[in-house]
Parts: sequence; C-alpha cells; structure tokens
Amino acid sequence: MAGALKLKIAPLSQPPKGVLVVFCDDALKLGAAARRALADAGDLVTRAAAAERFKGKNGSCLDIVAPAGLAASRLIVIGTGKAADLKPQDFVKLGAIALGKLPPSAREATFIAELPNGAIKPDAAADVVLGARLRAYSFDRYKTKRKEGEEAPSDRTVTLAVGDVAAVNKALRGRDAIADGVIIARDLVNEPPNVLFPVEFARRCLALKKVGVSVDVLDVKQMQKLGMGALLGVGQGSRQDSRMVVMRWNGGKRGDAPVAFLGKGVCFDTGGISIKPAQGMEDMKGDMAGAACVTGLLHTLAARKAKVNAVGAIGIVENMPDGNAQRPGDIVTSMSGQTIEIINTDAEGRLVLADVLWYVAKKYKPKFMVDLATLTGAIIVALGHEHAGLFSNDDTLSERLLKAGLDTNERLWRMPLGPEYDKKIDSRFADVKNTGGRDGGSITAAQFLQRFVADKTPWAHLDIAGTGMASPSSDINKSWGSGFGVRLLDRLVAENYEG
Ligand code: BES
Ligand code: MN
Ligand code: ZN
Repeated sequence: MAGALKLKIAPLSQPPKGVLVVFCDDALKLGAAARRALADAGDLVTRAAAAERFKGKNGSCLDIVAPAGLAASRLIVIGTGKAADLKPQDFVKLGAIALGKLPPSAREATFIAELPNGAIKPDAAADVVLGARLRAYSFDRYKTKRKEGEEAPSDRTVTLAVGDVAAVNKALRGRDAIADGVIIARDLVNEPPNVLFPVEFARRCLALKKVGVSVDVLDVKQMQKLGMGALLGVGQGSRQDSRMVVMRWNGGKRGDAPVAFLGKGVCFDTGGISIKPAQGMEDMKGDMAGAACVTGLLHTLAARKAKVNAVGAIGIVENMPDGNAQRPGDIVTSMSGQTIEIINTDAEGRLVLADVLWYVAKKYKPKFMVDLATLTGAIIVALGHEHAGLFSNDDTLSERLLKAGLDTNERLWRMPLGPEYDKKIDSRFADVKNTGGRDGGSITAAQFLQRFVADKTPWAHLDIAGTGMASPSSDINKSWGSGFGVRLLDRLVAENYEG
C-alpha cells in the first residue's frame, strides 16, 4: 500500500530510538517518561523554548537538531495546549503533526504518548496513530525517482511508547480499519483515468471480499434489463463499459434493514458533448470520489466488524464525447420510469445516481440512504473547500450527519430544498430535465436526485466536489484525493446504528 508506515507499540519504559517526539502542555510541562528520556539534556528544552518563544500552544512545535546530551538525532517537542481541553480529533491532529515533523531522512522515531499527568489514554493513543498513518500517506506509485536523502515511506518505523500496550493494540484495530478505508479511497481518487476505468474500478472492489464484504458487479446487459437508461446514457459514448457495484456487509441482526451508502463514480468527466474547457480538465479523474468513499467505507465497516447491515452501491461510468455519445435534447427513461430530458451532458452525475438511488431504495428498503457525489462546481462557489454540502429530506439524519462531521472534522453545511427549486427542473418535453440553470445549481442538482428517492426513504446527499479532491492540504492529508467521507460515515454508523 502506498505510503505504508511501520508502527510499533511499546511500553513507556522502553528506551526511545531514533528521532524523539514528546508532548508538552502550555506550561511547558512534560510527563514522567519524557522527563526521564530527557534527563541527560539538563535544561535544554526550557532554554530552547525561551529562545524560540515556544509556549506549548496546541499544534505548535519546537524542533531541536542534535540535542546535546541525548543519543537522539533530533528532539521534537509538540505543544498540546491545555491537556484537559483535548478532544479525540486533537489527538488525530497531534499524531499527524508529529509525523509531519520527522525529517524525510529519518528511519526511526519514537513518540512518547504521554501528557504531563500521565500516559495518553488508549483510545486517544490509537487516535495519534490514526493521524500519523493518514499524514504518512503519499501516492507515489507512478514516481520512478526519489529526491536525494529521501527514504521510501515503508522504510520508516515509528514506535509509539504507551502506558498500556495491550489496550492500545486493541483500540488500534478499529483505527487501522479506518485508516485503511481512507487510504483505499485516496488511492482510488488519485489513480489516473487511463488506469482506473469502470471495469477496473469494479475489479478493485472485489478485493473487499477478503474482509467479508459480498460484492456484486452488474454489467451493461444486466443494467439494461433493469431499465437503467439514465446511468447507461452517460456511459454510452465511452469505449469503456459502465458498471454498477453493490457491496454488502452484514454485521448486524439478520433481517434488520440495512443502512445504505451510494456513490457517483464518474471515472473521467469530459463533460461529454457539452464538453468542458481544457483548463483543469485533468482534475476530472477525481469525479469518482463519492464511489471511492463508499468503497473505503465498506472496507472500514467490515474490517472493524461493525454491528450493522450496510449496503454500498456505486454507479461507475466514463463521460466521453463520441459518435455514440448522448446529445443535449435526448430523452432517456430511468429505472423509476420517469423520463429525463438531457439539457447538458455535463450534468451527468445526477443521471448516474438517479438509477442507483431508485435501485437501492426498491431492492433493499434501507433505514436511510446517503449518497456522495462530486456533483457541482456550484457547491465550491458556495462553501469553498471546508464544508461539503448536505441536502436531506430528514432532519434526524441531518442532525446525526452534522454531529459526525464536527466529531471527525469532516464538516458539512446543510443547504435548502424546496418546491420553488424543484419547479426549475420541470421539462417541456419529459418528466424532468437534468439542469435547472445557473442559480442555486447545487440545490437544483439535489432536487433532481430527490425525484429518484423512492417511497420517502430518509435520504441525504453530500456534494463533495470541494472536499473530495484538490482540497487544501491539512495536517492529516497531503494527498490530492482526501478520502473525505470515510471517517464521517464510519462515525455516523458507530454513533447511531450499531446496537
Ligand atoms: N463533475 C462535475 C462537477 C465538479 C466540478 C466537480 C468541479 C469537481 C470540481 C459535474 O459533473 C459537472 O460538470 N457539473 C456541472 C453541472 C452543470 C452542467 C449544470 C457544473 O458544476 O458546472
Ligand atoms: Mn460533469
Ligand atoms: Zn461530473
């Protein structure tokens, strides 16, 4: 796996190796094990802190090269602010920051997982590891050269020195499942579109069988039989065949209605006949970030044996201009029976999701459906890259999603729906048209999706165009594809639907 990092868990009593990382609060206080490890360095930290005006503020860092008196090649002191104020996400962030401070040449490092008042609790220590693993990720599969002095990430070992080794190892099982899920999603988003076309995406989903997920791949013929004219219309201009993948994890009670997650999987979006401008078009390899998230999430739920029944369904297509491509003016019939007038072939994500939404609601009668899609440029205009847009027909589901967003720092902002917006997608020739004009573009896109939510199923749509890819790098993510949504939806399930 790209960017894998070797992690060891050791007791606080074990002498540290390599680069030494310790945590201090805003009174510059260290824990007992850290003080022991630094005993031979005298008042080095106090003096360095004064010289650098380091105050132990949360997330700040004091970096001392070749610390006198110590065997370590480098001492990194990370501030935590007031230790009592730390929330779970702060530990994820601190782990990421610590990993980020390691020089590229460092082969070994020891993080002393301790606050002034004692060892960092097992769950929080596991969060430190989660942050470090997410930060360590880089997509370098297609790099044949490395910069001088840089180690391959797999050559690096980080030892986390902790209070209770067994308890941390136990807490780590769930965190590793989460990190692996995020990394699966990032890898999929980062892959180039010549490599990751729909059939290949479906093939990669099959790997989830290893963790106990059942995976069904539907080909074009099967989708034709189901009447999925909306999804198939998008893919018809591509040399690459479309697919739908349904992944299922049954960790809950037999017969208990599943929770369902749906993803837009446009492996490349040229816009089709309504072709996009050349500038930045390469980013449209990430137009499958919703489907990537669903795939990573199903891995996470299965790998941590979540006590829930879950369905993950993704529509995978390539949107190309071609002699056989769909035209503006075409009318297609969706699986729901509703006819759709194509106004703009670049509004293709909603067409793909229309059939997936209908299929999942009818076939699985889920407790709720959440779809994720890099659906509109307009959501980036509205919310930038800090929040994904949330649209929903259900206040309880919305509240739970918003809360999970705050807890994981994968934040959402609820946007409106309503009949005034819905009117804008009435078509002159068909039941509905696939664009509602420039104004409120993300909202009319969501209204379109809502017309394909069968039987009033509780539903939420997350527009992740601004957060799933090309979002600004953060402490826990330096990669182009962020894996946005995996941690959010894993938390949604863990907090509300497991028992
Ligand atoms: N995949 C795009 C949306 C997008 C834009 C994602 C920028 C990420 C970054 C989507 O298929 C699209 O083209 N939407 C159009 C809709 C319009 C034609 C109604 C858009 O946003 O311009
Ligand atoms: Mn498009
Ligand atoms: Zn698109």
